[in-house]
Amino acid sequence: MGNIKIAPSMLAADFANLERDVRMVNQSEADWFHMDIMDGVFVPNISFGMPVLKAMVQHAKKPLDVHLMIVDPDRYIQTFADLGATVLTVHAEACTHLHRTVQAIKAAGMKAGVALNPHTPISVLEEVISDLDLICIMSVNPGFGGQQFIENTYDKVRRLRALANAKNAEVMIEIDGGVTSKNAAALVQAGADVLVAGSFVFKSENPSGTIADLHKITNV
Ligand code: DX5
Ligand code: ZN
Repeated sequence: MGNIKIAPSMLAADFANLERDVRMVNQSEADWFHMDIMDGVFVPNISFGMPVLKAMVQHAKKPLDVHLMIVDPDRYIQTFADLGATVLTVHAEACTHLHRTVQAIKAAGMKAGVALNPHTPISVLEEVISDLDLICIMSVNPGFGGQQFIENTYDKVRRLRALANAKNAEVMIEIDGGVTSKNAAALVQAGADVLVAGSFVFKSENPSGTIADLHKITNV
């Protein structure tokens, strides 16, 4: 606990005012930019691609936490390294050779993250957990912002923290989907280090105040 990171998801930003929203995050207490990349195959939706990401990155002054919801992510590891990603997260369900993918992300100079869909058991990470910098627990089914938080997440995070401790793995646990001021503290209590928040931040009246509130609630 302590030092909890808040990562606003730019998927919920106003795409007609991206520069304004990137600046808001720069000036806020946010720690990272969470960037959701979708391909319409791994998930049923398409978000934004390289040109839009590149445009945002030109203005972004905080680390980029890139969440790939795409099949065969190995094809784009170098591209995201060149774009300046700090953390690159792939889905376990999208990687046949997850160990190789994780090593390739680290070899490209980024922190390696693995995301798990709500139905995927944490046991799939048992053999690679010590190699990971971040595990993203999806608390909604990936593909869309604004969905309802899945309550089983608390228990899953608790079990994942216990697994990480048992393996002496210094891995950050990130929660993605449906995060609000109602569940933030309990998620941190369960073992989370990074909270992604899209709609809750960008649909609020004062997004930068909402980010500050999430910090206040979680860094107690
Ligand atoms: C969902 C994305 C999330 C999404 C979260 O597929 O990975 O990052 O933007 O949005 P909210 O916070 O609205 O659930
Ligand atoms: Zn995400």
